[in-house]
Amino acid sequence: MSRLVVVSNRVPLPDENGNPPPGGLAVAVHAALRKNGGIWMGWSGRSTGEEEPQGLTTLEQDKISYVLTDLSQADLDEYYNGFANRVLWPIFHCRLDLAEYARQEMAGYFRVNRLFADRLVPMLEPDDVIWVHDYHLIPLAQELRKRGVRNRIGFFLHIPWPPADILTALPVYEIIMRGLAAYDLVGFQTDYDLDNFVGCLRREGWGDWSTPGWLRAFDKEVAAAAFPIGIETGDFARLAAKTDGLDLVTDMQQSLHGSSLIIGVDRLDYSKGIAARIDAFERYLMRNPDQAGKVTLLQVAPHSRSDVPEYLEMQGQVESHCGRVNGAHGTIEWVPIRYVNQSLTRPVLAGLYRLAKVGLVTPLRDGMNLVAKEYVASQDPADPGVLILSRFAGAARELDGAIFINPYDTEQTAGAIGRALSMPLDERIARWRRMMDHLESHDVLWWCRTFLAALNEAPEDNGALTRE
Ligand code: G6P
Repeated sequence: MSRLVVVSNRVPLPDENGNPPPGGLAVAVHAALRKNGGIWMGWSGRSTGEEEPQGLTTLEQDKISYVLTDLSQADLDEYYNGFANRVLWPIFHCRLDLAEYARQEMAGYFRVNRLFADRLVPMLEPDDVIWVHDYHLIPLAQELRKRGVRNRIGFFLHIPWPPADILTALPVYEIIMRGLAAYDLVGFQTDYDLDNFVGCLRREGWGDWSTPGWLRAFDKEVAAAAFPIGIETGDFARLAAKTDGLDLVTDMQQSLHGSSLIIGVDRLDYSKGIAARIDAFERYLMRNPDQAGKVTLLQVAPHSRSDVPEYLEMQGQVESHCGRVNGAHGTIEWVPIRYVNQSLTRPVLAGLYRLAKVGLVTPLRDGMNLVAKEYVASQDPADPGVLILSRFAGAARELDGAIFINPYDTEQTAGAIGRALSMPLDERIARWRRMMDHLESHDVLWWCRTFLAALNEAPEDNGALTRE
């Protein structure tokens, strides 16, 4: 059996007992790596001075080698804070207004991809299957091929792929498209993303579908499909069911004094639509003055990418929206929005999800959104809460028991909050059951297995191959 080699910008390291860190992706990928042994390579999380050598650390545990590379401060600024998070992230999330393209940063992005390739090649064995994750590393397969690597290489994009009109605003879009086409298998979160990718190929005359599941792109055959990522459904359900004793959840419940809880949990990112969500909650309060004191929004929003100016700016925006709503509508007994930047542990999150009557997941654009899935998995089957979900989250393609909203439509979201809070029990149960059945059959292990099975079926060294 082939070894698996996983490459991603961040590497979730196991604890001292060898347990994978929390997080569906980490757990599933660790399980796959353990099966036949393997390597997980990525950035160490450290940056060094310009002149210092960029160190490589290897940790061995349980048949897995974790290979971590340091980056120089310039690498980090240009590759991670620059091209990946100030160009690719906003463009792929359809925020051209926030994209700050600079050639030097693009050069840094390709330089770091070359560095990853240089470091990976000496470790590879002929039968290894390589799985590259996310937008930080799109050019990696091309770099590996240039170095003579003939192994199967798959890529999974965790974020959306934008429509052609948006992508073509990226000055180097052809290079990025060619980079993706160098893989043997390309996986997207949803069929929309896949359609957008094919649309980009078609628009430029660079390719199209050849046979189902196969694209002809830049005179090469590439397998491409949607593999919607799942969560550890059973684990969330179990955690949520036994959180009664968790002090934080109990304290939260008591502090609500019987008011209904609505929950939002997001990395503090402009793609998540947090400010618009707060406006919609305010609109709900204004339309329903009798609900004052009877409903509380808990917004958990850990800081993220704070070295990127656009993130700092939106942090300020969200804070001012929360302050405005609390100032205008709160009383000395009741704060309408509890806003925290803390990250919470999974057991606490699962307990809070279960406590909340409504899960408010309203991104402006999102590859998948696992919070929506975690919220559903954490519900009490006998008395489940209601998920309000943006139609622009990848999860909307699967969770058909949610109330769908357009996050740009404040009135609609406000109306959905009212509808969710007053939904009869039988309707809540019917909607929840539909979603839970899907999450049970399509959990993160299913996702990992399905992607790897497709990658194992892809012909080796597809670079030189022409399929009929
Ligand atoms: C998204 C991306 C991941 C990334 C995560 C956290 O989910 O798809 O690749 O790791 O955000 O962002 P960060 O920049 O902190 O790694």
